[in-house]
Amino acid sequence: MPYSKQIREECRKAMQRSTETLNGIAGRDAALECGCTAQWELAFDENDRIGSASFRTNGCGYMAAGGEVITAQIEGKRLGELSGLEREELEAGASHKIGATSDRRHCIAACVEALHKAFDEHRKRVSSTFHGESPLVCTCFGISEDRIMAMIEEYDPYSAEELMSVSNAGKGCGSCRPLIQELIDAVRYTKL
Ligand code: FES
Ligand SMILES: [Zn+2]
Repeated sequence: MPYSKQIREECRKAMQRSTETLNGIAGRDAALECGCTAQWELAFDENDRIGSASFRTNGCGYMAAGGEVITAQIEGKRLGELSGLEREELEAGASHKIGATSDRRHCIAACVEALHKAFDEHRKRVSSTFHGESPLVCTCFGISEDRIMAMIEEYDPYSAEELMSVSNAGKGCGSCRPLIQELIDAVRYTKL
């Protein structure tokens, strides 16, 4: 089946982007279903803004077009403005824009997964250069492990999402959420 007009249009835009290497933060993933790889490279400015995002794929038009749509969505944004970048929302938004049917969702899912890996890499880099009494968990909002533990004590949440209703922690790039969940689980476990 030939690619749709939207997909060809997004691929054309992707081809016009500069291919210089940013030497920034990278994240990769692959969709085994179509055998395509997805790679992001992100460069952040001093305000934690995504100065530039470069997406590469060896792959299918769905992945190339999906990467292009997501690039336009995140470039120039501050991490704190991303409000958790829900995977499902990003995937659904990009799939809708390029008209990807459900049998091609895996292509978009790989784009999103690779992006989250890049965010995670960025979070690790930022927290490793942080010198505070307690490790930084949410780098998007500068929230330390001590503060998260205090909030868990106070609100007794079940999930990272629940904690997000009373705090900004996890509402930026979303990459700290698994860590927050681990802390919540650890506290709940000790109370059993
Ligand atoms: S590190 Fe980005 S939301 Fe917490
Ligand atoms: Zn694909």
